[in-house]
Amino acid sequence: MFPPSTATLTARRSTTFYTDVLNGLRAEHKYLSSKYFYDETGDKLFQQIMACPEYYPTRCEMEIMQHQSGRMARQFMEDSADFDLVELGPGDATKSWFLLKQLQKDQARFTYYPIDISSNVIKWLENRLPVTLPGIRLQGLNGEYLEKLHQVNTFSSKRKIVLFMGANIGNMTVQQATQFCRQIHAQLHPGDLLLTGFDLKKHPRTVLDAYNDRQGVTRAFNLNLLTRINRELGADFNIDQFEHYPVYDPGSGACKSYLISRQVQVVHIGDKEISFAENEAIFMEISQKYSMAETESMAAQSGFEPAEVFYDSKKWFADVLWRRLP
Ligand code: AVI
Repeated sequence: MFPPSTATLTARRSTTFYTDVLNGLRAEHKYLSSKYFYDETGDKLFQQIMACPEYYPTRCEMEIMQHQSGRMARQFMEDSADFDLVELGPGDATKSWFLLKQLQKDQARFTYYPIDISSNVIKWLENRLPVTLPGIRLQGLNGEYLEKLHQVNTFSSKRKIVLFMGANIGNMTVQQATQFCRQIHAQLHPGDLLLTGFDLKKHPRTVLDAYNDRQGVTRAFNLNLLTRINRELGADFNIDQFEHYPVYDPGSGACKSYLISRQVQVVHIGDKEISFAENEAIFMEISQKYSMAETESMAAQSGFEPAEVFYDSKKWFADVLWRRLP
């Protein structure tokens, strides 16, 4: 493959990706946003992470969906069987598929609105789901969660049930997550429901191992962002000179991944220079873990009341259903 032309690189350097990267690497404590992990290679590596023996969250939530979709559907249909089901970040919908299937079986009259930042995800769902779930009413929306949720509200005034699964809320700090839930609250009506997947606090070694798998897939996932910056922004990171370093604080529940510079080095991004001291860290990602009490306090702070909890058999993960308060 040919490297991008100078004109292409100049155009790319006017994007938010470029400004975000530059701002992050020029900050006093360097950081990169984990939302940029998911290029084509990043998507594949994340699929591999989910299959790693150490990475438990996906299997836990899968177990919940396989075994408790019946209970979930009953809760959803308690007020009425007529609603909009909005899913934020559905991925390939492997987990929500069980719920969609159950709702069809229970003859719920719902429209499914998956919202995803990736247009590929939306196209894939729009092609695939009508095959495996014949008769499903579906409208995919490609874009930012809150903006697209607002759009759904403009063309349908039906009761809303919002799904935010996969522990994606963990990739925000507690403060950011609370703020995000408040923004969802602002777009819902009293009685609407929000189902969120929280990864729960557990033995610290179990958590840390999940972000430090023996095969080194999570390491490759983090380093891939540097490769992406090299390729898309014409940078010259030497990947071998950065070390994957995850840490977990069992008190706060914050699991954080860093890349550590192995030596003093200067990295170029086009005509910009970024200097690294030996052992200097780039903060890459937070994967916040919660106690149930902490999820309840988040509900209260963002205008919801807990309605039901769905745990896996080990109680390592919880899909938590909240009702929007008046
Ligand atoms: C997508 N997200 C919930 C994953 C997590 O567990 O924080 C991303 C991930 N990062 C490393 N491994 C998995």
